[in-house]
Amino acid sequence: MNDADNTYNGETTATQPLEERVNNRSQRPSSDAFKAFMASNWAPSAHELPDRDAVADHAAARRRAISGLFKGERLVVPAGPLKVRSNDCDYRFRPHSGFAHLTGLGLDHEPDAVLILEPVPEGTGDDGGNHRATLYFRPLAGRDTEQFYADSRSGEFWIGARPTLAEFERRLGLATAHIDQLELAITKNVGAPEIGGISIRLVRKVDDNIDALVDTARYNTAKDPDNLDLGVLDALDEKLTEALSELRLLKDPWEIEQMKIAVAATVEGFAEVVKALPRALTHQRGERVVEGAFFARAREEGNELGYDTIAASGNNATVLHWTRNTGKVNAGELLLLDAGVEADSLYTADVTRTLPANGTFSDIQRKVYEAVLDAADAGFAAARPGTKFRDIHTAATTVLAERLAEWGLLPVSVEEAISTEGQQHRRWMPHGTSHHLGLDVHDCAQAKRELYLDGVLTPGMVFTIEPGLYFKNEDLAIPAEYRGIGVRIEDDILMTADGPVNLSAALPRKADDVESWMAGIYQEADHA
Ligand code: GLY
Ligand code: MN
Ligand code: MN
Repeated sequence: MNDADNTYNGETTATQPLEERVNNRSQRPSSDAFKAFMASNWAPSAHELPDRDAVADHAAARRRAISGLFKGERLVVPAGPLKVRSNDCDYRFRPHSGFAHLTGLGLDHEPDAVLILEPVPEGTGDDGGNHRATLYFRPLAGRDTEQFYADSRSGEFWIGARPTLAEFERRLGLATAHIDQLELAITKNVGAPEIGGISIRLVRKVDDNIDALVDTARYNTAKDPDNLDLGVLDALDEKLTEALSELRLLKDPWEIEQMKIAVAATVEGFAEVVKALPRALTHQRGERVVEGAFFARAREEGNELGYDTIAASGNNATVLHWTRNTGKVNAGELLLLDAGVEADSLYTADVTRTLPANGTFSDIQRKVYEAVLDAADAGFAAARPGTKFRDIHTAATTVLAERLAEWGLLPVSVEEAISTEGQQHRRWMPHGTSHHLGLDVHDCAQAKRELYLDGVLTPGMVFTIEPGLYFKNEDLAIPAEYRGIGVRIEDDILMTADGPVNLSAALPRKADDVESWMAGIYQEADHA
């Protein structure tokens, strides 16, 4: 890649700070004449403003809900900074999901940005709420500035045009302000409410700089700074993080559309993998062929992957988080593919199919596969509005325990296995059957247990059903014929008033359907 530069002021480099040496490979002059030349005679930026985003009203309703919970307090929600991958190369930026949810922003918007909900007298805020929202970010710099041509992290010359304040204001229906005003906006009038100060709540651990700024402001304005208990304040902050997580338990209609977009692209990605399987079977790292075929779709159709793809063949399929994907794909093995496209809005699918690498299940593979499918169907049947989230897991794992008992693998009775203290079946199915899904693959993770595992299934919830059975090569408790077989079937479910809808139903689930789907893709390719 190319590099930004910053000539060191003509001094010897021995005294040059290390962080500046990254620019030593560049030869950019520092003369005023050069700067003036570089920053002049560019056409002005386009001034036509975009339309309001479809998400804007939904994001406003989310902010209004949060406003109702934290009257009189300043709420600070950072997007997070760029993260270094190595030296001066950053990871592709992705904002914090709570920030994305409250602003409606997706894609790579916007490093270092912070949303502030500023308290105002009750009922006088945005949409009759108790706060006014402002988005602080680093807007596009003019083409007559040094940032334009010299800043490799934010300059238009280097990374393309970024949004202006007016653009985001129009798109999001949200007041915007320059990031230079952020420090004041976070720290002004902070203090104990009894002496007229404003208390802050912050989504912590997203941006270290903002954490430090808030800590310093709290310390400097505390009545007794030497005895300030930052732990107590952290607990206040955690309530905001928890509320943002719980707000996402129910998806609004716009979010459900985004989930459908993510799942549709994921379904296409799985078909691409089937097309790539003949090549994967001949490659020494066939799992990487599989991973790459899916990733191409994720980048073409969406923003990214929602999580690292698990492309696991044979015994690797029994390694739950096998993301190294360095293995071969051998004919006669099962390939477990767990992958999800993240849409431009940052909503992600999370789907698993277990495919016979050569297109046909062996008898023992089919037996294990069908047990997992029956467990998934039992989970689906248990998922009804009004039943508990945890009932899905109970229903699915009871089926698995029954099958393991039938096959003589379970060392205890089914009753004992499904008792709280038993759980022997977990040797072969050690993970949960379901999790909420949305902006994060494991969405709503900071919600209270009574709203999550013990929560009631409600229309608008989106979650997975993903039972599996994993028989490792090194498992001496089972007959050899089972070893090296890992199966998971994972679907993305939308709960509606009429019951669950399988958003990923376009991908075949029954063993026969999987075989004929694969055969159909190869036939189509032959005739193309
Ligand atoms: N791919 C992560 C999960 O299924 O939860
Ligand atoms: Mn999952
Ligand atoms: Mn998954």
